[in-house]
This record gives sequence, structure tokens and C-alpha cells, in this order.
Amino acid sequence: MEELKKLIQKAKDDFSKVSELSDLDHVKSKYLGKQGPLTDAMRGLSSLPSEEKPIVGSLINDIKKSIEKALGDRKSEIQAQLMNDQLKNENIDVTLDGKKQNKGTLHPISITINKIESIFNSIGFSSTDGPEIEDDYHNFTALNIPESHPARAMHDTFYLNKEYVLRTHTSSVQIRYMENNPPPLRIISPGRVYRVDSDATHSPMFHQIEGLWIDKKISFANLKWVTQSFLQKFFENDNLKIRFRPSFFPFTEPSAEIDMEWNGGWLEIGGCGMVHPNVLSQAGVDHDLFQGFAFGLGVERLAMLKYGINDLRPFFNHDIRFLNQFKV
Ligand code: FA5
Repeated sequence: MEELKKLIQKAKDDFSKVSELSDLDHVKSKYLGKQGPLTDAMRGLSSLPSEEKPIVGSLINDIKKSIEKALGDRKSEIQAQLMNDQLKNENIDVTLDGKKQNKGTLHPISITINKIESIFNSIGFSSTDGPEIEDDYHNFTALNIPESHPARAMHDTFYLNKEYVLRTHTSSVQIRYMENNPPPLRIISPGRVYRVDSDATHSPMFHQIEGLWIDKKISFANLKWVTQSFLQKFFENDNLKIRFRPSFFPFTEPSAEIDMEWNGGWLEIGGCGMVHPNVLSQAGVDHDLFQGFAFGLGVERLAMLKYGINDLRPFFNHDIRFLNQFKV
């Protein structure tokens, strides 16, 4: 019995030497396992006289409980120590300087589109959009440019296959909108367009804003007023030098190009005109009842003029020093 009582202290000593939870399990089985001295003692009970059995049995149980308690205490100590170590290692010094985050800004073309949209929205034009991968029908045929019409050569088109192109202008959205919405209509549609084109004022991917106003009594005078008022608001200048130059688009008649004074000459910023009756009827609009105008403005050109930039390529060269200058 004396030997058994000594086990408590021995187990405590052993437990205190262990610092890993996994090792503790190992030491535990040495005292409380099937091959341990307490299990042996329990087995030996049967050979004792019956009056001693309960006394010795309860003593063994007490010893077992004491060892289990010592084990639990040591386990808690080790866990607390682990937690302390972790807290120490993962300590965050909240007094250290933070890492500086560079704040992004909107791209100058996005800023320009937002501004254009907000001006047109304020005079009753709602915004809509259309697909950049466009079928030949909406990009050309429905706009009065049938196959093999020479006007197709005006656009250096990226063909994806015989049927689909990267849209060369946003005018395709006019058709899609008229197909799905009965007049009167007053919309603008900003978006990317693509042409095989590249120099200081031409980019292979650029942005246009299409405008369309269809109603019963819309004339060229309305077109002139809307575009001119828009430009005056956009450039915040009531004395802008703007020129409407007679031109040709198969989908408008009459047609004009809008130029603005630039570097002592003129820069073309968009095309416009009265929507051709063929285009109206092709899109399901009764051209005896309704008429209207359309325009397509070059967003990069407007941004160049607004910010005094002579070349539109830096807009797409990802130079952060250039882009950083445009803050809203
Ligand atoms: C058109 O694209 C016609 N769809 C515009 C239109 C719409 C006319 C509705 C009538 C009615 P144009 O090819 O001229 O037209 O292009 C319109 C504007 O886009 C140009 O005035 C110019 O400002 C801009 N633009 C054209 N090509 C490029 C280019 N490669 N890079 C940047 N801007 C361009």
C-alpha cells in the first residue's frame, strides 16, 4: 500500500518534466494505462481477504483520482504556457507606423464618360449599352451599310469571323434600342469600340458616346442645340469654337462632323446627322410618323481637349505618373 501511495508523487514529478501535450499522454499511460501499477493492483484485489477488499479498493481509487487530477492540472499548465508563447510571438505592436496604401483613382476616360453621362442624363437622356462583340447586321447592314457597300471600307474592322466583328462604333446600339423600345426615345450609350487604327489621335480601342433622340418633331436645329449645349457644359465655356462640317454617313441624312478648335486647327470630335429613314424602318420605327437625330462622340478626343493633351496614347500606356494626375 505504501508503494502505491508513493505513486502520486512520482506521477506528479514525471508530469512536471513533460512540456508537450503529446508526451503527457505517453506518461499518463505509464500510471493509468492497462499495464500500469494501479491496474495491476486492482487485479490483485481478488487475492485479498474479503474484509480488506473494499478498503484497498477505495484507496486505489483515491490514488487514481489524485493522479488524474495531477494530470489534468499539468495539462492546463502546458496549455496556458502554449497560449502565452503564442500571444508573445504573435504580438502586434500597435504603435508601429502603418504601411502606406496607395489609393487608386478613376481612369481619366472613366471620369470623362461619367461627366458626359451626367450632363446628358440631366437633360433627359437615359443611358443604355450594347455588346462589344457585334454581329455584322447590327454593326453595318441595319445601319444602311449593306455587304460590299463602299462605306464598309471607312471602318478598318477587326473581324472575328464572317458573322461577328468587334464593333467599330456605338451606332449599333441605336438599332438594338429601337428594335426593343417604341418611340419616343432619348438615349445615350457610352462604350468601347475597335478599329485597325493607331497614331496620336487614333487608338485601336477607343470609346464613343452614342446619342439618339427620336420623336415626332425633331429637327437638325435640335441636334445642333443639344450637341452645342452639351459641349459648352462639358468644357465649362459658353464661347467655344465649334464647327458643324457637312459630311457623309450612310445611316444619317443630312450628316455632319463636329470639329473643335485645337492647336490652331480643328479636331474632329464626333459625327452626327438626322437618322436615315431606311435605318428607322429597318429597326421597326414608322419613319412617316417619327424622325430624329443621332450622334457619336469620341471620348478620348473630348478628354484630350479637356485636359490639354496632344496624344491619346498615354491614356492606355498604364503609366501611373500620367494616370495619377487625374483626380476627381
Ligand atoms: C462614327 O463612328 C459614327 N458612328 C458616328 C455617328 C453616329 C454619325 C451617329 C452619325 C450618327 P466616326 O468614324 O467619324 O463616326 O467616329 C466618331 C468619332 O470617334 C470621331 O469623330 C472621333 O472623335 C472618334 N474616333 C474615330 N476613330 C478614332 C480612333 N481610332 N481613336 C480615337 N477616336 C476615334
